[in-house]
Amino acid sequence: MSGPSDGIAAHPLPLSARAPGKCILFGEHAVVHGAPELLFAIDLDTQMSVRPAESSSLNGDPAAAVTHPYLRAALERCWTADVPLHVRAVSRIPKAAGLGSSAAFVAALGAVLAAARGGIARSELAQRSFDVERGAQGVGSPGDTSASVAGGYITINSGSADLLWEVSDGLQRWAVRRASDPGWTWVIAYSGIPRSTADAVRAVGTRLAQADGPELLEKFRRVAEAGIRAVASEDRIGTATAMNENHELLVEAGVSHPRLEELIRAAAPAALASKLTGAGAGGSIVTMPVPGKEAECVRRLARAGGLAFAVRPARHGAGLLSSGG
Ligand code: MEV
Repeated sequence: MSGPSDGIAAHPLPLSARAPGKCILFGEHAVVHGAPELLFAIDLDTQMSVRPAESSSLNGDPAAAVTHPYLRAALERCWTADVPLHVRAVSRIPKAAGLGSSAAFVAALGAVLAAARGGIARSELAQRSFDVERGAQGVGSPGDTSASVAGGYITINSGSADLLWEVSDGLQRWAVRRASDPGWTWVIAYSGIPRSTADAVRAVGTRLAQADGPELLEKFRRVAEAGIRAVASEDRIGTATAMNENHELLVEAGVSHPRLEELIRAAAPAALASKLTGAGAGGSIVTMPVPGKEAECVRRLARAGGLAFAVRPARHGAGLLSSGG
């Protein structure tokens, strides 16, 4: 394969690619309004294989090129070539769970379409994946798509070192930087309640437009910065304190859910901290287990009805797996 060295090399179809989901530790929602965020790519992937076909389909559904918002947006923005595509996508990331399933879908598909059209630099794939997700969703920040493209830990709008790229929506710019991996295991629990990111983002936008909105946004900013510093210095207690504070701010912003609160209570005896992760209003929590109590934490969350699992960061971002469909 030939092409950009830090990016996706050129290769003709058929092609397969994968991209990871994500877990937000600090700053969801506030990042949409320019505040800092810390998140990492998780070791759950979406895998995709794409080949030319007589008519387009997704997992055998011929209507998907019109009805699936992310496929439609990707084809409109990244595939001007008049070649119908047969797309197969398999994901281990629960959908509408706050774990980046749509970002992984657009990043993996973006990697394939870009490879077929001559390759792409990773920074450009990050911008393009955001454009596609935003095109389908109408609102949001580039945090999720950048994590899926970059892999590992990243910050948005924090610090001044290790800039990976900037992503813009034409009005606002977000700076994406590499952050260090403290080497910790996290536990995630999905409540089983799917939610719409766009609805939750709009609801928080309305909340932040109230008279005390700027003050609330400033609190989000301060907590995220404290959390980012604590993770960088591998300070578990500082990280746990910032996680709990960030969750309280998300409650104040109106995006927790009784099931998330139940899960947080269930994890507590085996956890240093828990918070909702992603858009909330359902979706998932992320927990920092007491070291050595990871399995107990998973058991407690599963007993409380959560789809619970331990996660480690995925080192890889979106990339081609192999040629072949
Ligand atoms: C969703 O995973 C994270 C939000 O901050 C929205 C976004 O940043 O696009 C709620």
